[in-house]
Amino acid sequence: MKELARIASAVQASSTMAIDALAKQMKADGIDVIGFGAGEPDFNTPDHIKAAAEKAIADNNTRYTPASGTVELKEAICKRMKEDCGLNYKPAQVVVTSGAKHCVYLALRALVDPGDEVILPAPFWVSYLELIKMVGAKPVVVTAGESAGFKMTAEQLAAAVTPNTKALIMNNPGNPTGMVYSRGELEAIAKVCVEKDIFVISDEIYYGLMYDGARAVSFASLGGEVKERTIVINGVSKSYAMTGWRIGYLLAGERIAKVMGNFVSHSTGSPCTISQAASVAALNGPQDCVEKMRRSFEERRNYIVERMNRIDGVSCIKPEGAFYVMMNMEKLIGKTIHGELIQTSDDFCTALLKHGLVATVPGSGFGAPNFVRWSYSTSMDNIKEGMDRLEAFLKG
Ligand SMILES: Cc1ncc(COP(=O)(O)O)c(C=O)c1O
Repeated sequence: MKELARIASAVQASSTMAIDALAKQMKADGIDVIGFGAGEPDFNTPDHIKAAAEKAIADNNTRYTPASGTVELKEAICKRMKEDCGLNYKPAQVVVTSGAKHCVYLALRALVDPGDEVILPAPFWVSYLELIKMVGAKPVVVTAGESAGFKMTAEQLAAAVTPNTKALIMNNPGNPTGMVYSRGELEAIAKVCVEKDIFVISDEIYYGLMYDGARAVSFASLGGEVKERTIVINGVSKSYAMTGWRIGYLLAGERIAKVMGNFVSHSTGSPCTISQAASVAALNGPQDCVEKMRRSFEERRNYIVERMNRIDGVSCIKPEGAFYVMMNMEKLIGKTIHGELIQTSDDFCTALLKHGLVATVPGSGFGAPNFVRWSYSTSMDNIKEGMDRLEAFLKG
């Protein structure tokens, strides 16, 4: 038989999903594992959103919609983005997709050709690296360390640009770090993008989950020249606890939106009609549910950060958004814990799962080899127990 396609064969399985699946399997086998691997809110989708979906079914609102989404949903997206982020987009500049993950793929499809370079600040969300490879482009990873708050500087960006650079992927607030770029930092990065003529894919899916009273700054809000070269990615998954509904959306200039709309019409077709109706209710309905979940995440963040920094051998900086914290485990490299030699964060996570019954995600898949991602999207009781277990595990 002939070989499979080179591009497809080179795609790696998602490390976040792998650990989550393993933890779920251990739980199914009756082992008392606490999972900190999840990339989704642990809350249920709010009732009024579920009711809108039930009504859509009862009303036989069950057929195809326009490939890039219903006018009603696009209008709701424009309204919400204006209210929350000060962005002015028309429905013709919106493309609704089956989840924000697909948005990243579509945005790359619209902007890059095989051989183009895409700059990716590390630590990065695992899927970006694979998606860049999936469109035949070349990822250029720019590492931002913990001392820089895991944030790439404008100088680092400028140094990474070559004549082949086509686009930059920004993720703010970020997964896996939870860090948030300030307006000034974003402006400096945007200036480089305009000067060097590069597109920006700005994934802002965690914009609703910000702490300490801060509000996220959308990359596209930084001026006309910046907006026209930016594709904003957002969705309902994280803010409204709707990961399983599979609705994401893109905002872009009309020309780019049209290209992405054409692409989606031949690949996935329209996103789920019922989920679109539910998303209209999410975006147009009361927003206090978002605030309630956000407050809960903030309380959990405060607890986990404080506890982690009191445990010998590990530490973390305080994330400002999303629901992840990056634990620094550099000091444990070369140590033996419960008979296991820890040489990498992968070794650490495997040992912690095996001996401490706590599931976390190694930083290796995120371009952060000496770190471990803890998702605090789990109950306060689980977080407390998880920290107790980490402490006991490290005592060996
Ligand atoms: C940064 C980032 N973008 C996009 C997504 C995907 O969102 P969706 O569930 O809408 O596909 C995730 C999910 O983990 C994410 O962390």
